[in-house]
Amino acid sequence: MSGSGESLGRRPARGVARSLAVGVLGLGLAGGGLHALLFPGPVGAATPVRVAAGSLRTGDVDRGRNIFEASGGCTCHTNFPGEGEDAPPLAGGRALETPFGIFYSSNITPDAETGIGSWSDADFIRAMREGLSPEGEHYFPVFPYPAFSGLRDQDLIDMKAYIDSLPAIRRQNRPPGAPFPFSWRATVAGWKWINFVPLELDEQPEHGAAWNRGRYLVHAAAHCGECHTPRTLTGGLDRSMWLAGSRDGPEGELAPNITPDGATGIGEWSVADLVWYLGTGLKPDGDDTQGLMSEVIEHGYSRLPESDLQAIAEYLRTIPAIENEVKGRD
Ligand code: HEC
Repeated sequence: MSGSGESLGRRPARGVARSLAVGVLGLGLAGGGLHALLFPGPVGAATPVRVAAGSLRTGDVDRGRNIFEASGGCTCHTNFPGEGEDAPPLAGGRALETPFGIFYSSNITPDAETGIGSWSDADFIRAMREGLSPEGEHYFPVFPYPAFSGLRDQDLIDMKAYIDSLPAIRRQNRPPGAPFPFSWRATVAGWKWINFVPLELDEQPEHGAAWNRGRYLVHAAAHCGECHTPRTLTGGLDRSMWLAGSRDGPEGELAPNITPDGATGIGEWSVADLVWYLGTGLKPDGDDTQGLMSEVIEHGYSRLPESDLQAIAEYLRTIPAIENEVKGRD
């Protein structure tokens, strides 16, 4: 774990003003947390799971693999940066740096004690869609449940069946390395109260099946917006800048503007360029891809059927173009 410590140490000092601002913001969020705990709103701990009974099958491993791969292969749960290519798959422990501190991804292998092996389908659906553990505790929003909230019941049940078919690995979860109150799960109630709007992705019949599939994959499963959309001061997504690029991408990476803006986005890319990119990680100019994007491509998107990549590319051509030059900090 020395890697994460080093990268923390190398960060430039942020200054007293910024620390104060973050402190005040934290207290505000924590206050919101208390309020939300005392007066649970639509995402309070007691929310029943929205599972449509009746029409659901038991999980299908092959269909589940497709949704798992569409989600980028859940690679945030494998500690590649800390342990290299042999990192135990999906066993967690990966340090994810955010403006609010470091959070460690959890073990999502089917180990009954340290992973999610003892979870029911309903537990899994609630975690993915509402950001709540089986015990009703809030998950930190570094876990992109705002996107996953748009996933359908059957897709989640299938995804769980696929994860259950993978090797169980024993590894305890690590507590966050974030300062109080960001390390406090009740603060997340405040965060949800301000920022969390569950996704409702109804079919839009005026568009074709591929467009609708692409929209579902981009918004929900592939959670492109969680990295490519800039965030507000409280760490929510700035929806007016949907996919227009973020300098606070995962692990402090810069995530480019992927709206169809010609100058600052990917407006010059053809559908074929984007399909090629998601399948290989190679850009139209021959450049390759770094960081987490290369991981979600390698372990996820590149394994999708061509029709899914086409659907993603077709949908992305139709979203609003936003002019936004994303500049890094270096
Ligand atoms: C886990 C975070 C993450 C997710 C999820 C993610 N991206 Fe990215 N993406 C990045 C980062 C970081 C880069 C920059 C990579 C680099 O510098 O090589 C990037 C780069 C790209 C690029 C290259 C753009 C350019 O101008 O060079 C495209 C296109 C892209 N992503 C599309 C997508 C699409 C489409 C999705 C969803 C299907 C997606 N990304 C999901 C983080 C992410």
